[in-house]
Amino acid sequence: MSAAKNKLNHLAIIMDGNGRWAKKRHKPRAFGHREGMNNVQRITLAANKLGIKVLTLYAFSTENWARPKEEVAYLMNLPVRFFDKFMPTLQENNVKVNIMGYLDDLPKKTYDVVQRAMAETRDNTGLILNFAFNYGSRKEITTAVREIATLVSNGGLESDDITENTISEHLMTASFGEYQDPDLLIRTSGEMRISNFLLWQIAYSELAFSEKAWPDFNENDLKKFVENYQNRHRRFGKVDESDS
Ligand code: IPE
Ligand code: IPE
Ligand code: MG
Repeated sequence: MSAAKNKLNHLAIIMDGNGRWAKKRHKPRAFGHREGMNNVQRITLAANKLGIKVLTLYAFSTENWARPKEEVAYLMNLPVRFFDKFMPTLQENNVKVNIMGYLDDLPKKTYDVVQRAMAETRDNTGLILNFAFNYGSRKEITTAVREIATLVSNGGLESDDITENTISEHLMTASFGEYQDPDLLIRTSGEMRISNFLLWQIAYSELAFSEKAWPDFNENDLKKFVENYQNRHRRFGKVDESDS
C-alpha cells in the first residue's frame, strides 16, 4: 500500500554558493549575487506553479554584515534591483511579498524598497515570497523572549500560561498561521549546516542538500527535491502501522 504524498506548503531555502559560483568563473562575487538574484525569480515562479503556499528564502543573515564593505553594499542594493526588475511579474502572478528580519537596521533606500514591495503586494492571494533579510534565528528568539518577559512583567500574561504556541506567535513567521513551520528546508552548494536560520521553526522540517551552487539550482532540481520530499515518511515521533 503506498502512503499518501506529503503536501508541501512551506518551502525554505538557504540560497548558498553565489560567491564560489562566481569565483569558478573568474568573476567578482557580486556577479554571483546578481545571477543568484535572477534565480530567485525563476524559482519563485516554479514554486508558485507547484502550489507551494510560502517560499522563505535566506538572502542576508545577521552575520553577513561581517563581509567586506563593498559586498555588503552590493547585497543591500539587491532588493532595489530585484523589485525594479521583477515587480511586474510578481504582480502578474499574484505573489505576495514579505520581508522578515531586522528591517530598521537597513540602509534607507533598501528599507523603503522592501516596505513598498510589501505594501504593493499586500492584497495578493497567491504564493507568499518571504525573504529573510538581515535575519538571524537566535536574535529572533531573543526578541521573542524579551517580548514575552515584558508581557509577564506587565501582568498581561502568567508565566505558567507560556506555551510553545506563545513562542511561535512571537516569531517573525507568526503571520503565516498554519504554514509558519517549513515542511522542507533545502540548502544549496554542499554545506551541511543551518547558519542561524529558523532554528525553532525547523524542529520537524525535512532537510535536503544540493551540491549545486544557488545560481545553478534550477526548476528541474526544485521539482526533483519536491518529489523526493513528497514520498518521504514523516513520523513526527510516532510509530505508524506500516512500521510495526
Ligand atoms: C549566498 O552565497 C548569498 C549570501 C550569503 C548573501 P554566498 O555569498 O554565501 O556564497 P559562498 O557560500 O561564499 O560561495
Ligand atoms: C547563510 O549563508 C546565509 C544566507 C544564505 C543568506 P552563509 O554563506 O552566510 O553561511 P556560512 O557562513 O557558510 O555558514
Ligand atoms: Mg555562503
